Amino acid sequence: MTKKRVLTGINTTGTLHIGNYVGAIRPAIQDSRDPNVESFFFLADLHALIKCQDPARIERSRMQIAATWLAAGLDPERVTLYRQSDIPEIPLLCWMFDCVMSKGLLNRAHAYKAAVDAATAAGKDPDADVSMGLFSYPVLMAADILMFNAEEVPVGHDQLQHLEMARDAAQRFNNLYATPEHPFFVLPQATGGSSIEVLPGLDGRKMSKSYNNVIPLFEGGRAALDAAIARIVTDSRAPGEPKDPDSTSLTVIFDAFATPEERENFRAELRSGLGWGEAKKRLADQLDREIGPMRARYEELMAHPAQKFCRKAPARRVSLQRPSWPNCVMPWASEASPKSPHLRQLKRRRRKCSARPSSSTGKRTGASTSSSFPLRATNCSFPKALSPGGMPASGSAA
Ligand code: TRP
Repeated sequence: MTKKRVLTGINTTGTLHIGNYVGAIRPAIQDSRDPNVESFFFLADLHALIKCQDPARIERSRMQIAATWLAAGLDPERVTLYRQSDIPEIPLLCWMFDCVMSKGLLNRAHAYKAAVDAATAAGKDPDADVSMGLFSYPVLMAADILMFNAEEVPVGHDQLQHLEMARDAAQRFNNLYATPEHPFFVLPQATGGSSIEVLPGLDGRKMSKSYNNVIPLFEGGRAALDAAIARIVTDSRAPGEPKDPDSTSLTVIFDAFATPEERENFRAELRSGLGWGEAKKRLADQLDREIGPMRARYEELMAHPAQKFCRKAPARRVSLQRPSWPNCVMPWASEASPKSPHLRQLKRRRRKCSARPSSSTGKRTGASTSSSFPLRATNCSFPKALSPGGMPASGSAA
């Protein structure tokens, strides 16, 4: 039986909060333990460039996200873990989609519309704050997903539109360049769309860095957790007065870390007068029960990234084959003068690779992987995914 491919990526732009953990990290790691699932986890460092032009911050965020995945229980032996920028075919595919997707569709993308609305409200030119990267964000995301023919992408509500656009890209491309019997791309499904938990933030709005209402996952330790929880907005009812459990984010956040029985008890206590201060302490303890041990692992990984990551993750190779869509869209690009070093190199690679048995992943993409030389970035091992230009032998990259 072929395994189901599930793909998940995180933008490497900042530190993670418990909303990311509950909505994306925890379910994806759970999925990856399913023997019928083939998981892809990647650091979306090309997407990061859209919002952040501070390389040091992206670098640090990449470390943090990778360490978070490991600390939260991701087994790098079971999954394919890579850095988006290690796969040059992703931006290539993005460009190909750029050439077939309609601007009209992309005009409707939420992030683009929000930037236009904000600029207009500020009396500026509507596109004043829009880079081509921002505009093309959904296209790059489509390339991320379709590159590996992921069948399922667990995403929250805010990403559902991007999945629709990825399906659109797949369909257009298949119609243009493939036959119905041998499509290049499978149409990915968003999973969890409605069931994926979207945690409210301290002020009751969606937990989001842009609202400055987050509870950090690991950064700042238990003290930062307590400090954030202390800021959760509640009403002014005094200890002893009955409280409405649904009047605050406190219970919703509690629910995400509790058993049904614990949830019920907490609500009952609030109804019978538990003080907000005490309730916040219970919430912090409840969260820390799950994330405290992970935080210890996280801190250790961040303190000694090179050694730990190297030992933990012996190079796992992505056994994917080079896709044939580039040849199909631009057959001339593989034609080179017989004397060209490129061609010689290509032939050498072809010879090498035709000796290799085709992997199950290669089979899956069937018609789309007819040429058999492998992806340039075959070595997407975890250590490499952590530091640009390869892994330092030792020392701290944090
Ligand atoms: N857009 C996602 C986010 O904001 C990150 C991401 C980039 C992604 N490419 C993806 C997620 C492909 C899933 C699949 O977090």
